[in-house]
Amino acid sequence: MNSVTISRQADDFSVFDVDRIRADFPILQLKVNGRPLIYLDNAASSQMPQPVIDRLVRYQTTQHANINRAVHYLSEIATTEYDNARCKLQQFINAREDREIIFTSGTTDSINLVMHGYGRKFIKAGDEIILTTLEHHSNIVPWQMLAQEKGAIIRVVPINDQGELDIDEYENLFNERTKFVGLIHVSNALGTINPIRRMIEYAHRYSVPVLIDGAQAAPHMTIDVQSLDCDFYAFSAHKLCGPTGVGILYGKATLLEAMQPFKGGGDMIASVTFEETIYNTIPHKFEAGTPPIAAAIGFGAAIDYLTTIGLDQIAAYEHMLLDYATAILSEIPGVKIIGTAAEKTAVISFTLDGIHPHDIGTILNQDGIAVRTGHHCAQPVMQRFKVPATSRASFAFYNKKTDVDALATGIKTVQKVFL
Ligand code: ALA
Repeated sequence: MNSVTISRQADDFSVFDVDRIRADFPILQLKVNGRPLIYLDNAASSQMPQPVIDRLVRYQTTQHANINRAVHYLSEIATTEYDNARCKLQQFINAREDREIIFTSGTTDSINLVMHGYGRKFIKAGDEIILTTLEHHSNIVPWQMLAQEKGAIIRVVPINDQGELDIDEYENLFNERTKFVGLIHVSNALGTINPIRRMIEYAHRYSVPVLIDGAQAAPHMTIDVQSLDCDFYAFSAHKLCGPTGVGILYGKATLLEAMQPFKGGGDMIASVTFEETIYNTIPHKFEAGTPPIAAAIGFGAAIDYLTTIGLDQIAAYEHMLLDYATAILSEIPGVKIIGTAAEKTAVISFTLDGIHPHDIGTILNQDGIAVRTGHHCAQPVMQRFKVPATSRASFAFYNKKTDVDALATGIKTVQKVFL
């Protein structure tokens, strides 16, 4: 795909050639229930462009073998391409070294790696772990498991009615027992962008490491882990136009080296006897067994694709979509937007007076409109807003202003059916 330019003029959608971008995504041509697909479930998983699909086919048809194990032609090519994908990820988030990038099966796996590798080694009884109300279950449950095992304590940062973290309360939670912070960069349920730079800086005053769950941030903005100075950063390929089954954990080399392995097996060792195993160096120490080679190479192709468009351009365009959608949906009587933070990605969680979110999703689907309904694996957020569930429209750079119009029309149809 050729590069795309975007002007930053407010509300000027015409300057982003979204039709040309959409032509890269075969799935967007689908009809669902006889209607053109309007895909607004990008926070759950984004779609894959043809160059990434082609890269997967090329790998499987001409390059596939296992890696790091043999000297034959295919194994060497597959190993090189897998290593190249790691370098693309390193550059994408401006990590200092490629060995600071661990391929995992996704964000959840990355967080579990930190819990087992760092938490089980360094967190002790009475230690405190700070999490926030906005966390996805994947950044809550592993730490609860650790707290139960070790006798550690979890402290939770509250949010206000807009869905923003109470930063004063965050800072008040720190004391000499604070040993770890787990922090979502962008809320999947609400779209809130958290002030992670400031929060990381504060944690470091107490020498506390910070893990950032970047699953909903990396697809929508430029990430620079050196500038943020985070200790760990995790995200998944399938939310960045890549395949499922692969993600990364970034970790500072000194921390990764100090950690214990999460999984044991082939490739993560330097030598094995029945008396003793010497572990491999990072990143291999954390990549036991055959990794998701094809998916990692596809991830690299997705990074190339997004980088060609430009994450800053994507952020600017999606922000226009967010502003437009917020304005249009707010005008519909009975729509309540949950999560109105000043800093948001293009996610709109909403309820409709008198109508259950699952009914909303079902009727919208009849019109070919895909939204997610439910608790979004963020039940503490739902509890805070006293709702069992919401409907969530989450946008990507290939969505159009007309997709927002279709959603608004669909919501009015839902209201006609149920009210
Ligand atoms: N965590 C993903 C979502 O928010 C699956 O939908």
